[in-house]
Amino acid sequence: MAAGKQQLPVALLFILGGVWSFPLVQDTKPSCHITKPNMLNVHLVPHTHDDVGWLKTVDQYYYGDRNDIQHAGVQYILDSVVDQLLKNPDRRFIYVETAFFYRWWKQQSSSMQQTVKRLVNEGRLEFVNGGWCMSDEATTHYSAVIDQMTLGLRFLNDTFGACGRPRVAWHIDPFGHAREHASMFAQMGYDGFFFGRLDYQDRDHRMIEKEQELLWRASDSLTPPMADLFTGILPNGYNPPEGFCWDQLCHDPPIRDDPDLEDYNVDDVVNRFLVIAMVYKTNHIIMTMGSDFQYENANLWYKNLDKLIHYVNAQQANGSKVNVLYSTPSCYLQELHRANLTWSLKRDDFFPYADDAHDFWTGYFTSRPALKRYERISNSNLQTCNQLEVLAGPVSRQGPFGVGDSDTMKEAMAVAQHHDAVSGTEKQHVANDYARRLANGWQHCQVFQASHCLYHGYSGTIMSSRFLVIVYNPLARPVTWPVRLPVNGTAYAVSDVKGKPVDCQVVPVSKATQEVRRNRGFAINELVFQVQAPPLGYTTYSVSLIQDGPPPASTQRRTPTGIQNKFLRVTFDPDTGLLSSLSNLETKQSIKLTQNFYWYNASDGNNTESNQPSGAYIFRPNSSTPFIISKTTSVVQEVRQWFAPWVSQVVRLYADSKALELEWTVGPLPIDDNLGKEVITRLDTSIKTDRFFYTDSNGREVLQRKKDFRPTWNLKQSEPIAGNYYPINSRAFIKDDVDQLTVVTDRSQGGGSIQNGSLEIMLHRRLLYDDVRGVGEPLNETSDIFPEGLIVRGRLLLSLEHPAAAADLHRPMAEQEVLQPLLAFVDGDLMTHCTFSGLQAALPPAVHLLTLTQWDKDSVLLRLEHQFQSRESKLNSQPVTVNLQKLFSTLVVLGVSELNLSANQWKDKMTRFDWTPQKGTGPLQTGYPSEWEVTLRPMEIRTFLLKVQNVQLK
Ligand SMILES: *[C@@H]1O[C@H](CO)[C@@H](O)[C@H](O)[C@H]1NC(C)=O
Ligand SMILES: *[C@@H]1O[C@H](CO)[C@@H](O)[C@H](O)[C@H]1NC(C)=O
Ligand SMILES: *[C@@H]1O[C@H](CO)[C@@H](O)[C@H](O)[C@H]1NC(C)=O
Ligand SMILES: *[C@@H]1O[C@H](CO)[C@@H](O)[C@H](O)[C@H]1NC(C)=O
Ligand SMILES: [Zn+2]
Repeated sequence: MAAGKQQLPVALLFILGGVWSFPLVQDTKPSCHITKPNMLNVHLVPHTHDDVGWLKTVDQYYYGDRNDIQHAGVQYILDSVVDQLLKNPDRRFIYVETAFFYRWWKQQSSSMQQTVKRLVNEGRLEFVNGGWCMSDEATTHYSAVIDQMTLGLRFLNDTFGACGRPRVAWHIDPFGHAREHASMFAQMGYDGFFFGRLDYQDRDHRMIEKEQELLWRASDSLTPPMADLFTGILPNGYNPPEGFCWDQLCHDPPIRDDPDLEDYNVDDVVNRFLVIAMVYKTNHIIMTMGSDFQYENANLWYKNLDKLIHYVNAQQANGSKVNVLYSTPSCYLQELHRANLTWSLKRDDFFPYADDAHDFWTGYFTSRPALKRYERISNSNLQTCNQLEVLAGPVSRQGPFGVGDSDTMKEAMAVAQHHDAVSGTEKQHVANDYARRLANGWQHCQVFQASHCLYHGYSGTIMSSRFLVIVYNPLARPVTWPVRLPVNGTAYAVSDVKGKPVDCQVVPVSKATQEVRRNRGFAINELVFQVQAPPLGYTTYSVSLIQDGPPPASTQRRTPTGIQNKFLRVTFDPDTGLLSSLSNLETKQSIKLTQNFYWYNASDGNNTESNQPSGAYIFRPNSSTPFIISKTTSVVQEVRQWFAPWVSQVVRLYADSKALELEWTVGPLPIDDNLGKEVITRLDTSIKTDRFFYTDSNGREVLQRKKDFRPTWNLKQSEPIAGNYYPINSRAFIKDDVDQLTVVTDRSQGGGSIQNGSLEIMLHRRLLYDDVRGVGEPLNETSDIFPEGLIVRGRLLLSLEHPAAAADLHRPMAEQEVLQPLLAFVDGDLMTHCTFSGLQAALPPAVHLLTLTQWDKDSVLLRLEHQFQSRESKLNSQPVTVNLQKLFSTLVVLGVSELNLSANQWKDKMTRFDWTPQKGTGPLQTGYPSEWEVTLRPMEIRTFLLKVQNVQLK
């Protein structure tokens, strides 16, 4: 409290001193310093880039622990910056990562909190971006990105109100930029977006054309300007210009005062600003004054910035036309907006990113595939956790099994979205820390599952001769899902909740599975059956042992020539055992399809063109021809294929599935030959692709890709493989006029189409060299259970359709892959069988229930999403209407307000949704039913805060 008062005279001194202060603009944003219309205005933006984990864990970064790894301590940065802001009211600072700010805030005294509120209200401390972290853009799924932004922005709104709401999105470090991120930021209400990294050829082109500031039209489906986002490329990445780094981490000489002033070449500084300005359109440029974990001793920076401003502006008396000022991204953006110019329109994205001819950052699309899968399935678990908390009502937080909370998982997932987390570009000990946080989140969520008729008692082999399987389905429509349980018996009877028998099958555990599980289970068989679960609800199946004994004799025979169900048929080549064709029996389509596994030899950095090795970020094969992984094959209904001791696959067709499942198991990648390996699977087909293929952006809209081509500049291709790789978050496809082969993935991966008719996906990487982008370790993953290298398992779902009908299949398929049913087990027959649906009826196929989570005591946050693009499907690319009051079976909706996508602002423009809760209690079905109806157009997400009351169903 004394601090604020003591500072006041100091601040006054500066103001009275005159030279150091600037008059304030009165008309728009009052906190922005005035600029000079006939001069070049240089906006100095003091900032720090605080990774939410990278070389150190998020905790180590916050506290400044392990400074031997990297000198960095976020708590000291915030302490020091606030102190320095108070010393001079002209000074500005921006802060980005709410994960850190939130921790710091909780530790401050209430007087310090008041002081900081004042700084925020006066625009001296400005939040930009404001999500929990600065998310990765290539490997994240939109659902998790929206959640992490919501978490951070909610804290800022709750704490600071409207003044704490960031106006600018700020992704200065991520390694390429996704169109879906731009679309989301637009829908979150940001005025603009700034970033630092883009392809070097793209940048050169844009500098010539003065197109480093542009308008990004980030959706093909949403009506402009809904997904339009002004986008600016920063002049120095996110660093200060050379010679201007005055942090304790830097070595640039300080600005010297009067006696030495002659030495300091102010003219040179002025000229350098003028040169930078030549490639921008307006008489304003932005200078990022800061970098990674800077401002721990903020006095160094501010003292020199004060002087820089003073001496450069003093030259104006001698005719200089350069005006330097403290600024923020939103103040800079305001000037660009005022300039009232036209900006070039961009419709594609900023992938892949290369910083030189042989340096494509396309390796991290696949790096750490096990962490990528764990992150994806954790999202599914979190959504289930959120839903159960809502459906069970507030009592569930204090259930009979303990105190449940979804917050731990929300924070762990938010941290995992960071651009060095799910991206796989962190040090090994930090990757372990992210996984540990997620595991802790799962623990806290299990309480809900337990208190909600679900009991989690499953590990290893299921031993009882009688048990219940409870299946929870987090989707808003019924699902059919194959269940595989580890058992020892040879025959079982399975029945559904009504006692009706269900087809089931016992198959021996595969050799690959036995190897993967090590000493963590000894079951000899797998019991396979399909479950059907109601929308947003659960059902139970009972299983009883009929026959114990040895496993069914595994009838070793040659690969069958084909397998089929009522929808699909696949054939295998009798000589090679490889897939040879795929047919859709309903549509009578058929394509040639060969699938095999290969590995690229990772560059070790020792060659003539460039010494860039392949690493966690960068993919650089030594040769464009991958090595084939030789194969052998065998066994039964599902076809098990062995390609090498470290690559195997199961080809499966479930009875009711329109997709062919390829379950791959890859690892441990051998490195005793001293060769780094990047393993791909490649599908070679008879489809005539003519260099085109398609990948999704963050799991939502699909973008067209073309080999050796970029839509906005003439590409000089220098890496024929790595330079043609793109992120695949949930699906990729190739097509011609007749056939579309779609692959749905279970995690983010990298891939490309190098030959016509071909689609390759990178599955696993193991490398022997660091790629010199900072992480300082080769990507060489091992663990206690897998000391000789990680084994990774995953699956690809393949479907063959006419292009016009393909989305009707791959949209719901990807939806099911992202939000998977949760299984729980109860020993014996103790419980009454139960079945439950949280919905009155299934939602139409176009509508995805994206979010259902408790917001506060009596309100819940609901997001409904139209999951089809416009023109993608005759059937489903139509507007759909949902009645919010007729949605839930156990929640009475008393009131609805619509919010922006990140739920930190009321969507007041849309006044027709500005409802107030009706007074009184009980169901309110009568009156004005139409007002509860919500229409969703293709790719639209609408966010609602619902006032609700729980009613229990019998
Ligand atoms: C912006 O430019 C347009 C076209 O040049 C002009 O019509 C309009 O009046 C300008 N707006 C402002 C606020 O200056
Ligand atoms: C299942 O069978 C295996 C092999 O006979 C045995 O090692 C394991 O203990 C059995 N598990 C149970 C739960 O009976
Ligand atoms: C690079 O290759 C050359 C020629 O093959 C060899 O002599 C040299 O030892 C290699 N250097 C490294 C660091 O592997
Ligand atoms: C933002 O926070 C203020 C209080 O600081 C609250 O009144 C308002 O409802 C919040 N807005 C939203 C959209 O949650
Ligand atoms: Zn970073």
